[in-house]
Amino acid sequence: MIVKYKGVILAAGKGTRLRPLTEVTNKILLPVFDQPMIVGPINTLKALGVEDICIVTSKEHLSSFMKFLGDGSTFNVKFTYIVQDKPLGIAHALLQAEDFFKGSKVVATLGDNIYEKVKVDRSALEDEFAYIFLKDVAHPQRFGVAELDNSGHVTRIEEKPKRPKTAHAVTGLYIYPDDVFEFIKSMKPSERGEFEITDVNNHYINTGKLRATKVDGYWLDTGTFESLLKASIIKALESDPDMFEGIDKNAMIAALSRV
Ligand code: DAU
Repeated sequence: MIVKYKGVILAAGKGTRLRPLTEVTNKILLPVFDQPMIVGPINTLKALGVEDICIVTSKEHLSSFMKFLGDGSTFNVKFTYIVQDKPLGIAHALLQAEDFFKGSKVVATLGDNIYEKVKVDRSALEDEFAYIFLKDVAHPQRFGVAELDNSGHVTRIEEKPKRPKTAHAVTGLYIYPDDVFEFIKSMKPSERGEFEITDVNNHYINTGKLRATKVDGYWLDTGTFESLLKASIIKALESDPDMFEGIDKNAMIAALSRV
């Protein structure tokens, strides 16, 4: 079988919102209950059938990732490691993996995003479209926010708008055709100096090549103290529903996963 898709976990970045925890440790290796955070995105990619996975991280933290993850055999996948020299944005991190993908479809996920479950049609891993995954949230201003037309097509995405027009957050899982790298090379950094993944997604909207699906189940972005703690409690409850006596597990998970 020829596998036409591969995956990447974007695990560089500054982790400023989690200082001082990230002074020494990479954010994506911080604990979510009993596992380093990166186990979540590894499971996301595995759930989509992706077994050839590249980890993009900083030079400083490369050895920690390699020590924990190795060649991937303990996870039943294959890992390749690539360094992002400077945290110049998510799209820039993705560009570092261009040679790894060599013509295959790109399944990219952010190291700090955890999904309860993910599903895509097999065709999404092989066709010429880009795919994003939306979740309705209470605080969309923290995320990329999608506007939809009457037939449910995404018409525009705004990155962290002060006044969001909808509640549809763009979550940190993206599927792109391999022409994504040519587009990233043509991009300019945003006002905050980053190559924004939202600009990549807007490019596919403009070329009529973006499709969006809704995330079923919970979605967590573990990039803040509060969300990291909530994610740990959810994972603890999933491993032992009786850990907190008298608590209704499902009600608690529903409350904690409201983002
Ligand atoms: O969590 C979903 C959100 O993620 C999306 O809704 C936003 O559109 C998207 O921009 C992103 O927003 P964040 O503010 O959460 O992104 P952050 O800067 O925290 O980066 C997320 C991960 O991407 C980070 O944990 C590691 C990786 N990253 C980030 C940067 C800036 C890199 O690998 N290299 C980078 O240079």
